[in-house]
Amino acid sequence: MSSLLEVKDLEFSYGEVQVLRGLDLIVEAGKIVCVMGRNGVGKTTLLRNLMGLETLTKGSISIGGKDFTRRPASERATAGIGYVPQGRQIFPRLTVEENLKVGLEAANVKGRATVPDEVYTLFPILWEMRRRRGGDLSGGQQQQLAISRALVTNPSILVLDEPTEGIQPNVIMEIGKVIGELVEERNIAVLLVEQYVDFVREVADSFHVMNRGSFVAQGNTSELDEDMVRKHLSV
Ligand SMILES: Nc1ncnc2c1ncn2[C@@H]1O[C@H](COP(=O)(O)OP(=O)(O)OP(=O)(O)O)[C@@H](O)[C@H]1O
Ligand SMILES: [Mg+2]
Repeated sequence: MSSLLEVKDLEFSYGEVQVLRGLDLIVEAGKIVCVMGRNGVGKTTLLRNLMGLETLTKGSISIGGKDFTRRPASERATAGIGYVPQGRQIFPRLTVEENLKVGLEAANVKGRATVPDEVYTLFPILWEMRRRRGGDLSGGQQQQLAISRALVTNPSILVLDEPTEGIQPNVIMEIGKVIGELVEERNIAVLLVEQYVDFVREVADSFHVMNRGSFVAQGNTSELDEDMVRKHLSV
């Protein structure tokens, strides 16, 4: 079976407020699946549940065919999920290299104290900037750093939360290219949360549209036409 990530009937509430309702999702190796939807519908909350940063109230999550529903975040990272959170969340006072090492520690990779060279080959700018502090990088460079930090452990599933947010078109294109190459060369699975429709059409294979915590539309990105965008995504 090639489904690396499988979510069944997931529900989640913040206290009394139900945020996610009956979500089913499958991400297979070699595929890029996108979750779209307007602000505040629950996209980030879904990803936090997948990463084990929130605890679902109902449903199940499996990673690589194994049940992880009740497993802590650290075990999910070790099992091969890399996470690029919304807003990047790099450490501004640590250097680029130190930020990347945090990625190794987070996944508890034993005996791997140095950042593998191939991480720097994805975004060469990070090699040039490896001794600079994270906070001194541009927004686009910080996003490249956040993606690289998620990749230091060689994950089989990469989860990205709005990687194009606040970033210039040339860097967006470079990020899209790197994601495409990762899928092609390493056959990883990618779950992408994204509101930038052109980027979704460019990089993703299939999409789900979320509204108020439910998926209300889905299909191949070739079906993502203007009607769909107007109905579900425009503000
Ligand atoms: N820690 C929290 N406690 C209570 N409610 C929260 C918390 N975090 C988010 N929410 C609420 O849960 C809902 C979903 O938020 P979430 O961040 O998942 O949305 P989103 O789709 O990622 O939005 P955006 O596109 O703006 O990033 C929102 O109504 C939000 O206000
Ligand atoms: Mg969000």
